[in-house]
Amino acid sequence: MCVDLNTPWTIGSVEIPTRLVLAPMAGVSVQAFRRQGRRYGAGLVCSEMVSCAGLSHRNERTLGYLRIGADEHPLAVQIFGSEPGVMAEAARMVEAAGADLVDINFGCPVRKVTKTGAGASLLDEPHRAAAIVEAVAQAVFVPVCVKMRRGVENGSRTALEVGPQLVEAGAASLTLHPRSAQQMYTGTADHALTAELVDLVDVPVVASGDITSRERAESVLAETGCAAVMVGRVAQGNPWAVGEIAGIVDGTPSREEVVAELLHFIRDTVAEMGEQRATGFLKKFYGWYLGRGRFPRPFKQELVLLDSTDAVVERLLAAAPGAADVLESLEAEQPPVEDRLLELPVSIYGGG
Ligand SMILES: Cc1cc2nc3c(=O)[nH]c(=O)nc-3n(C[C@H](O)[C@H](O)[C@H](O)COP(=O)(O)O)c2cc1C
Repeated sequence: MCVDLNTPWTIGSVEIPTRLVLAPMAGVSVQAFRRQGRRYGAGLVCSEMVSCAGLSHRNERTLGYLRIGADEHPLAVQIFGSEPGVMAEAARMVEAAGADLVDINFGCPVRKVTKTGAGASLLDEPHRAAAIVEAVAQAVFVPVCVKMRRGVENGSRTALEVGPQLVEAGAASLTLHPRSAQQMYTGTADHALTAELVDLVDVPVVASGDITSRERAESVLAETGCAAVMVGRVAQGNPWAVGEIAGIVDGTPSREEVVAELLHFIRDTVAEMGEQRATGFLKKFYGWYLGRGRFPRPFKQELVLLDSTDAVVERLLAAAPGAADVLESLEAEQPPVEDRLLELPVSIYGGG
C-alpha cells in the first residue's frame, strides 16, 4: 500500500503534517535551513546533533543550538552523549527550550564522537544504549526518538536487535539510516533492512538514506511500510528537491529563484548567528546553491573569497538582477516577525 506523502502521522502525541522529514545535519541544520525545508513541504525538521556534555557545561556555543523560533514546530532537537544521567539532563534542557521531540543520536560514525562512546558506537553497547533511552524518556514529557545506523561493521544487522530494545526502553519512534558506521556515506542505504525493522517494532519508523526523488520516496514508503522518509544531502542548497518530493514543486528553478532563495538564506543565517560567524558558515552553501550547472564554477569561487555577506549579496544581485523582485515576494510570504522571535529566555541561549 502506498502512503500519501502529504498525510499526517504522529509520534506519540505530536502530529506531523507530512511524511517528509528534514534530516539532522551537523553544520547544516540551522534555523534558516529548517525554515526553508518546512516552506518546501517538510512536516518535521530537526536540529543538528547537540553535545550533552556541552549543554551540561553550559557551553555558550552549544546552548545556541537550543534556539527555537515560534514558527518552527514541530521540531526535534537531537542530542548525543554516552552517559544516561548527562543525557537525561540535556533532554530536560531541550524540552525546556521548546522542542516537540527529543532525538537521540546512535548513528554518528565520526571518530571524534564514537571515541567518546557516543553516536554509532552505542549500537555495540545495547545495554548502555537502552539505559540512555530509558533515562531520557523518564526525564521528559515529550516523546523521545532514536536515530541510528544499521550497525558499526559493514553488513551488520545490529539495528534489528537493538531497535526493539530501544522501543522497550521508551523510544516512541526509530529512524534508520541503513548504512554501517564503517561505510560512512559510501555504497547505498539498504532499505530492505528498514522493512525488517518496521516488522519488528510497533512505533513509527522513519527511513533515511538516498531519498532523492518523489519516486524513490514513494517506493521506500510502499516497500518498507515506514511511516515517513527523511531527506538529507539532496536538500543542501536545493530546497526544490524537497519540494519535488513533497509534490509542491515541478521543474527546475530559474537563476533568479536560486539567487533569491540564497539571499533569503543569507539574511536568515546572519540574523541567527551574526555576521562574523555567518560569513564563514555560509561558504559551503554557495557551492551547493550555485553548482548543479546553475552558474559557472568560477562564480562560486569568487563568492567564497569575499569577506562579508554584504559583498556576497551585492555580487549575487549583479549576477541575477531579477532576483530582487523574487526575494521581495518570497519575504512578503514569511510569518510576521513576532512569530519568528525566540521562545527561550535570553539567559539560556548563547550568542555568536
Ligand atoms: C554533513 C552531514 C551532517 C550530518 N549530521 C548528522 C547529525 O548531526 N545527526 C544525525 O543523526 N545524522 C546526521 N547526518 C546523517 C543524515 O541525517 C542522514 O541520515 C544521511 O545523510 C543519509 O541521508 P541522505 O542520503 O538523505 O543524505 C549527517 C549527514 C551529513 C551529510
